[in-house]
Amino acid sequence: MRVDKVQNKEDKTRVRQGSKNANQKFLTSESPEIDPFVNRIICGDAQDVLTRMPDRSIDLIITSPPYNFGHTYAQDPHDDTHEWNEYFDKLLLVWKECERVLKPGGRMAVNVQPLFSDYVPTHHIISQQLARLGLLWKAEFLWEKNNYNAKFTAWGSWKSPSMPYIKYTWEFIEVFDKETHKKTGRREDMDITGEEFKEWVLGKWTFASEIRMKDYEHPAMFPEELPRRLMKLFSYKNDIVLDPFNGAGTTSLVAWKQGRRFVGIDISEQYCNMALKRLAGADVVTESSAGYPTPLILTLNDLSTET
Ligand SMILES: C[S@@+](CC[C@H](N)C(=O)[O-])C[C@H]1O[C@@H](n2cnc3c(N)ncnc32)[C@H](O)[C@@H]1O
Repeated sequence: MRVDKVQNKEDKTRVRQGSKNANQKFLTSESPEIDPFVNRIICGDAQDVLTRMPDRSIDLIITSPPYNFGHTYAQDPHDDTHEWNEYFDKLLLVWKECERVLKPGGRMAVNVQPLFSDYVPTHHIISQQLARLGLLWKAEFLWEKNNYNAKFTAWGSWKSPSMPYIKYTWEFIEVFDKETHKKTGRREDMDITGEEFKEWVLGKWTFASEIRMKDYEHPAMFPEELPRRLMKLFSYKNDIVLDPFNGAGTTSLVAWKQGRRFVGIDISEQYCNMALKRLAGADVVTESSAGYPTPLILTLNDLSTET
């Protein structure tokens, strides 16, 4: 039987059932229950801390999870190597909480470097997890680091098709929206310039990796430029930015510098202390941060008494 061709653009969009029409405006008032978390570096397991946070209270999540690479993180030098399914199951519990705490119109950006040598496409698997939680896929940025010193210098099967090894000089940033692609905010709280907008809406970003990791005593940081672009492109000033795997505090620091509020969670006391030290060293006197709570470290125990 011949099926009639769909003629117009609207009908084609309707048939495909993508999320293009998810563009309703949500005006959510902020719950005072989020106050004890604002501008806090919270030392604890991400899932435990997140379960204490109120629903629909966060504007933007920027994070890079532990990658299961075998990094020697301070809290437990042996905790970054797990069987892959076990690793993804644990991450999913954190993503569920992230989805819950996001406001409608909120965004979540996850920086991922897959472990290509294990042939596990982490960026695809994490994207599937987030999509299955109902988040709407928004974008994928290819962060070109021009890292030609990539560790694997043997090309697999040299000059033979038997098993060539493909090398990558970039990482990925997967971005999702909650419930709608439209985020409401005040015009006076937009701070991206025309030049920045033109450059950053292109899906390939080129900037260098963090070179001061030794100084900050952390093995896997992203540079300030990464959260800076995401914040200016996807959030308004005064918004609350969460990083559930905050490390040495790059997301929190940039939020503070850019006139956003922050919540930074990390399991390592050493990294939480470093995050606070970096915040204290930042010379920030913006109109917005002037009236905000001074950055402080909390533990799970403090949260039990405060919330
Ligand atoms: C890739 S690093 C993030 C680095 C951060 N983007 C920066 O620039 O400093 C991942 C972080 O996750 C933390 N981490 C690992 N397991 C955790 C957990 N269960 N809860 C909270 N943080 C955890 C590690 O201590 C590490 O600092």
